[in-house]
Amino acid sequence: MDSILVTGNGALSGQIPIAGAKNACLTLMPAAILSDDPLTLTNAPRLSDIKTMTTLLESLGLEVASLQNGKVLAMSGRGANNLRADYDIVRKMRASILVLGPLLARHGRAEVSLPGGCAIGARPVDLHQRAMEALGAELELRDGYLHASAPNGLKGGIIDFPIVSVGATENALMAATLAKGTTEIRNAAREPEIVDLAHCLRAMGAQISGEGTSTITIQGVDSLGGATHPVVTDRIELGTYMLAPAITGGEVELLGGRRDLLAAFCDKLDEAGVDVTQTNTGLKVKRRSDHIKAVNVTTEPFPGFPTDLQAQMMAMLCTADGESVLEETIFENRFMHAPELNRMGAKIDVQGGTAKVTGVTRLKGAPVMATDLRASVSLILAGLAADGDTKVARVYHLDRGYEKVVTKLRGVGALIERIKGD
Ligand code: UD1
Repeated sequence: MDSILVTGNGALSGQIPIAGAKNACLTLMPAAILSDDPLTLTNAPRLSDIKTMTTLLESLGLEVASLQNGKVLAMSGRGANNLRADYDIVRKMRASILVLGPLLARHGRAEVSLPGGCAIGARPVDLHQRAMEALGAELELRDGYLHASAPNGLKGGIIDFPIVSVGATENALMAATLAKGTTEIRNAAREPEIVDLAHCLRAMGAQISGEGTSTITIQGVDSLGGATHPVVTDRIELGTYMLAPAITGGEVELLGGRRDLLAAFCDKLDEAGVDVTQTNTGLKVKRRSDHIKAVNVTTEPFPGFPTDLQAQMMAMLCTADGESVLEETIFENRFMHAPELNRMGAKIDVQGGTAKVTGVTRLKGAPVMATDLRASVSLILAGLAADGDTKVARVYHLDRGYEKVVTKLRGVGALIERIKGD
């Protein structure tokens, strides 16, 4: 298994291009199931999760062509001839559940393996199930698979989510586009990836209003057509690389970055003593002095502070002046990077969903590993400012969500390399 070696060498400067959003692409791709006409996504990120979704869609009979070195994905739902999402693929990636809504809406039936738990928490799919039931589908759990059917098609209805779920909102939104009548999704997720999905579905002919607010209304149509749609910027990749110059010093511009994608995160950086400036080409980040101030962070659904940036923020706060408290409210087990950061000399005390970080002057390089994507990248960020070498094992987590991490960080002066198979 490959690993990544980072050697802390001070300030970074230059530009980092930000890719299209993994999480948007993973919901835009299943939207291809909804139409017989081609759906083409531009600005797609080159990631192993995208390959997994490609494999899943191909297993359902869709054609997926990866063009321009993977930056363009051309898909067609015309050939769909298998309505079963197999455990062997679903277990690799929870976002596989996002084929449920489109399959049901377009073909009246779906069998989707339950994804099971994952490192950051139990992550059930009950809300996806309830949303489909609210649209008239019948669902039954058998042999580890959700068997869903709507023989006479889905019917519009009211879907009132008890908690905000990004994936369940996406499934509901896609399914409702072809349901008969009007659907209202209440307590909908407001993430930019939902807005991006709504824009794409509208380009395919769907009638949607209210995306980006907590009530989305969909007027079902008989069929959807094709579209070409650019994937929105990856706000989590953006936020991750914004933290690099915040941690090391220097000034880095994140090309394609937009403040509105990460307003709560930018406000926290400002409070910590890091300037974020919107330019014509992206976001420039520079800390105001040698010192980072401690700040308290609570993760929340959008527009709050994203859970997917909590680990990276913690890496920065390890060397802040004073004590920071990070509260994780979305996933129950998302502090696995804390003991690894402690091995690098950090002082983090985790109690349940709360982590208390007491700033230390310097971190020290160490061999570390992580069990999920965002935790892995937080260790790389910590390594950028640590004394000596940090070797991050289990790089396959990173490959799921960060394209060309070594090239991008080297481009701004980091000492980082990928070490093959040890
Ligand atoms: C998406 C993102 C993930 C991000 C998360 C929260 C993708 C591919 N992944 O995941 O990177 O961390 O949003 O911003 O877009 N829940 C239930 N029942 C359900 C569904 C969810 O109880 O049926 C719970 C989850 O366990 C979690 C909370 O709801 O505690 C929010 O999860 P959700 O927004 O659904 O996350 P995902 O869509 O899986």
